[in-house]
Amino acid sequence: MPEEIILIAAVTVDGFIARHNNEITNWTKDLKLFKKQTLGHTVIVGSNTYDTLLKDLPGRKIIKYSRTKDPRQILMSIREKRCFVIGGGKTYSKFSSFLTHLFITPHPYVFNKGVRLFDLRIKELRLKFESLNSFDKKEGIFQYQYRVIKS
Ligand SMILES: NC(=O)c1ccc[n+]([C@@H]2O[C@H](COP(=O)([O-])OP(=O)(O)OC[C@H]3O[C@@H](n4cnc5c(N)ncnc54)[C@H](OP(=O)(O)O)[C@@H]3O)[C@@H](O)[C@H]2O)c1
Repeated sequence: MPEEIILIAAVTVDGFIARHNNEITNWTKDLKLFKKQTLGHTVIVGSNTYDTLLKDLPGRKIIKYSRTKDPRQILMSIREKRCFVIGGGKTYSKFSSFLTHLFITPHPYVFNKGVRLFDLRIKELRLKFESLNSFDKKEGIFQYQYRVIKS
C-alpha cells in the first residue's frame, strides 16, 4: 500500500465539489497545480467523475473505482510510494479511512447543494495543517495541505 494516499480536491467555500453528479468541472482555477502534483502518479477516480473527464489524464495511471471493488485491494495493488484519490465525493468517502493527506483548494463559490466533498457517511477525520501552496494569490487560490492524524 502506498505510504501517501492523497485526496486532492477543489471545493466551494460551503464544501461542495460539484453542482450535480455529472457536472463537468470547468469552474476550478487550479488545474495546472492538479496536473503538476499528480503527474507520474497513480490516480483513483470514481466512475461518475471518469465519465465527466473530457480528456484522458496523460502521464498518470488511472484506476477507475466502482462499488464492487474493494478500496483496500485497490490500494494494495499500487506499488508506488504515493497515489492520489481524485474524486468524486463517493470515491473520496469510500477511501476516507485510508487517506494520509488532504490537498484542498477552496474556490470563491457557494453552491448550497450538490456533491459534498465526502458524499457518503464517513468516520470523522482529524487533520494537522502541514503547508499552504500559494497557487494564485491575486485570485485567492491557495491549496491547504493537511495530514490525517492516525490514532
Ligand atoms: N471539484 C473537484 O475537485 C472534483 C473532483 C472530482 C470529481 N468532481 C465532481 O464530482 C462529481 C461526481 O461525484 P460522485 O460522488 O457523484 O461520483 P464518483 O465518486 O466520481 O463516482 C461514484 C463512485 O462511487 C461508487 N459508489 C460506492 N458506493 C456508492 C453508493 N452507495 N452510491 C453510489 N455510488 C457508490 C460508484 O460505484 P459504481 O461505479 O458501481 O456506481 C462510483 O465508483 C462529478 O460532478 C465530478 O465532476 C469534482
